[in-house]
Amino acid sequence: MDTVESIRLPAALPAIADATRQLRFLYASDLEFGPLLRMLAASKPGGHLLEIGTGTGVGTAWLLDGMDATARLTSVERNADVQAVARKHLGDDRRVTFVPGDAREFLQAQAADSFDLVFADGGPGKITDTELALRLVKPGGVYIGDDLRQHLLQDDGRAARVKAFEAKMLGLTDFAVVKLDWASGVVLATRRA
Ligand SMILES: C[S@@+](CC[C@H](N)C(=O)[O-])C[C@H]1O[C@@H](n2cnc3c(N)ncnc32)[C@H](O)[C@@H]1O
Repeated sequence: MDTVESIRLPAALPAIADATRQLRFLYASDLEFGPLLRMLAASKPGGHLLEIGTGTGVGTAWLLDGMDATARLTSVERNADVQAVARKHLGDDRRVTFVPGDAREFLQAQAADSFDLVFADGGPGKITDTELALRLVKPGGVYIGDDLRQHLLQDDGRAARVKAFEAKMLGLTDFAVVKLDWASGVVLATRRA
């Protein structure tokens, strides 16, 4: 396993991590997962990226670290307290727009095929309302769903819901899909052109 020291961190990440600890926010992306986000973001120069569930901005920081100067990122979050951390540490970056509010409403309001990368990491667009997020992915674009592994704090029905989500993703014919039993457990899907 990589050590913290061996991973080049986005500049804002240590301060975001401190604030995340202080808030006792337990749902930030794990460290191993970050470089994957950064790598995928770097594959979309000039792209429009979407993060569903900003949290405190850990994933946001990794995505921004991979994006080129012309790419844009939209990040949606319904919890203003956690999103405030991301705004404080990343809000000066003109490539990112933080959207407050419910992601389901946001997803419903977007045009189909409007994002080059969708990172589904909070509420709708992953285990529930998967299609709402998938329909936004452009041909050649990437969908990322993480946290497939069991979580200490999960409720009783979550394991079955995750299994159903995985089966749905692996059954898609209009996406090329791979499941990685790595980090928090990830599914990656690229919409076929
Ligand atoms: C796993 S955390 C996000 C972690 C973050 N992306 C990261 O990389 O550290 C999930 C977030 O989704 C948010 N969330 C859950 N349901 C939501 C909804 N319906 N609309 C907007 N945000 C939602 C939660 O408030 C939480 O902050």
